[in-house]
Amino acid sequence: MSAKQEISIIPSVLPVDFSQLGNALVDLEKAGVDRIQWDVMDGVFVPNLTFGPDVIASTREVTALPFEAHLMIVEPDQYIERYIASGCELLIVHAESTRHLHRTLARVKEAGAKAGVALNPATPIEAVENVADLCDLILVMTVNPGFGGQAYIATMERKIRQAHELAESVSNQIEIEVDGGISASTVAGAAAAGARALVAGSALFRHAGGLEAAVSEIRSIAASAVGQ
Ligand code: DX5
Repeated sequence: MSAKQEISIIPSVLPVDFSQLGNALVDLEKAGVDRIQWDVMDGVFVPNLTFGPDVIASTREVTALPFEAHLMIVEPDQYIERYIASGCELLIVHAESTRHLHRTLARVKEAGAKAGVALNPATPIEAVENVADLCDLILVMTVNPGFGGQAYIATMERKIRQAHELAESVSNQIEIEVDGGISASTVAGAAAAGARALVAGSALFRHAGGLEAAVSEIRSIAASAVGQ
């Protein structure tokens, strides 16, 4: 079994009030999330601009939670060391963002971080078959990247199953992550297809019961969907 089985709830910080970024991380830790995802956007790979490494670094001491950087940027190789130095222990690069994906992932590992690869909805699982041995995580995007609050693309559940099968076929352990439109009404399908790392933004911050209730609800539904 090489697909990681533990369920992780991972907030995207996109919906946060950025004037209260540090306090939001403290609240997320109290709410029981497992790690933080920084949606890094450069305005080129996706039509939005977000966090540089200095912003992330400024919050590093606020929480003990692990940080992952979802690099929705072109030329990610140029930023590997800086996002690691900012406090991110996992860097997720897009297969579509670099001409030499194998080299980019190897550089992330050589720099001392865990390496993840993300696939946009149109990108087939075959794009990562030859680099799975370098991966600690495969992220199946369930929206087109760039913005929070979008609708879950349920047809991605076939690719989630393919990613899980790929993870089962390699000797290194790989975590299957999903990002985009994950909520109480969509998480069961994603988890049943093989996702265990569940990134959510809107569903956490807009939940009527607050963050802790949202985290607990999504975790419980995902666990039930996989018989845990
Ligand atoms: C897309 C972003 C969003 C975000 C989650 O580029 O990465 O997927 O993390 O947003 P929600 O959970 O609101 O869809």
